[in-house]
Amino acid sequence: MKRTEIDAILKQPQIGATVKVMGWVRSFRANRFIALYDGSSFNTLQVVVDFEKYDEEFLKKISFHSCIAVTGQLVESQGAGQAVELMAENIELLGGNNPEEYVLQPKHMTMEYLREKAHFRMRTQTFSAVFRIRHAVAFAVHKYFNDRGYYYMHTPIITGSDAEGAGEMFQVTTLDVGNPPRTENGHINWKEDFFGKSTNLTVSGQLQGEIAALALGKIYTFGPTFRAEKSFTPRHLAEFWMIEPEVAFFDIYDNMDLAEDFVKYLINHILENYPDDLAFLDKRIKDAEKNMKQEERRPMGLIDMLRFVVDNDFERITYTEAVNILRNSNPYKKGKFQFPVEWGSDLQSEHERYLVEKHFQKPVVVRDYPKVIKAFYMRENDGTEPGKETVAAMDILFPYIGEVIGGSQREERHDKLLERIHAQGIHEEELWWYLELRKFGGCPHAGFGLGFERMVQFITGMGNIRDVIPFPRAAGSAEF
Ligand code: 4AD
Ligand code: MG
Repeated sequence: MKRTEIDAILKQPQIGATVKVMGWVRSFRANRFIALYDGSSFNTLQVVVDFEKYDEEFLKKISFHSCIAVTGQLVESQGAGQAVELMAENIELLGGNNPEEYVLQPKHMTMEYLREKAHFRMRTQTFSAVFRIRHAVAFAVHKYFNDRGYYYMHTPIITGSDAEGAGEMFQVTTLDVGNPPRTENGHINWKEDFFGKSTNLTVSGQLQGEIAALALGKIYTFGPTFRAEKSFTPRHLAEFWMIEPEVAFFDIYDNMDLAEDFVKYLINHILENYPDDLAFLDKRIKDAEKNMKQEERRPMGLIDMLRFVVDNDFERITYTEAVNILRNSNPYKKGKFQFPVEWGSDLQSEHERYLVEKHFQKPVVVRDYPKVIKAFYMRENDGTEPGKETVAAMDILFPYIGEVIGGSQREERHDKLLERIHAQGIHEEELWWYLELRKFGGCPHAGFGLGFERMVQFITGMGNIRDVIPFPRAAGSAEF
């Protein structure tokens, strides 16, 4: 007999039909009621067992997360909470569990513990909800851009250039690391490496994305990116996914409009299509907050927050305005900020969170940052005072997460770009092709990068970014 998925049964119950289902046991009450799930739905199917038909040894093996196949008849449910249940006629044990040895338990387990059991954690309600939503956000990304005429562009994972100029890259090499070939003056001779040059894992697909935008008009990338920063924050990964649209003829304002519309679309897609998963994640946070002090709780529930973000315009301010707001703030005056707030220093997470969570209480788009703290490719704004030069950069800041998007209008003027490349000590030869895009048929253009995991983190309300990627990679940890 062919297997039926639980989602199909719950959506259109064929009362009286005989079906076969396969899945994992969420709970087994009184040797009589099994809550079975197979991943197709957030919800479980109730299986009713006639325990007199089975010996005790067999029933013992049906425990938390055991895998079974059940054949039986669908009947209208007598109990509350479900419309249909399955009267088991035959139960086959596909993968039994010994609860004394199995490392997951049907009780509260910490996120840290579950991270160590990443081969089992997706079976929990929390993680299956998170990863269903992660899938759906990725799907919505492609749908959004495809519906609007953007082309999906695959940019390289191995590259010779450092797009962000931050020097936080993983080396890719086939050289013998214990005994690499050396040049006459003792440096590693990269010419003898696999690609005949020094290469890294990419930190961003943007520079290659620009090549495509200056030919196809509107493109986006969506791929893994790698950063060897030793940040142990709940918002940093060493391997994360980024979505980077790049658009010819766009300026910074078009860019901000696109970014705001795009993230609202992603959130809406989940609100409309994954209400059960969201309701569970919402309740999960509320339960966890029961023992917290009022000021530690979120100002609104997860679903309310998502709706709020979708329904309201993001606040748009300049970096200079942001600095003024921060310097007039209570935490600044009381010396509560750890990092300085001065024109020219980068906004730290504590500052971003103050702006978003306390001052505006909504997402904030900050633009026109000081040139000295931003990447070489960002377009210098015209008419700024000497020493106060700014670039057409924009960051979108979200509650709890801080920066979800970083982007800019690109410097399309060859002389200006070359100046910045020199000023930042970047080797011009590495970027010869990037410079040529400014010499031949160039145009104004802009784009941004959305941190995919930070977006999924915001939508699911998960506290740590390591819990929204199936197999997190971070400094000191690459299990699985
Ligand atoms: O602000 P970033 O560094 O911008 C770029 O890489 C540009 N090339 C994007 C562009 O203009 N095409 O990174 C973009 C986003 C950040 O806003 C953040 O959401 C995310 O990527 N991000 C990280 N997410 C997880 N872990 C990390 N270590 C991250 N670093 C950046
Ligand atoms: Mg950034």
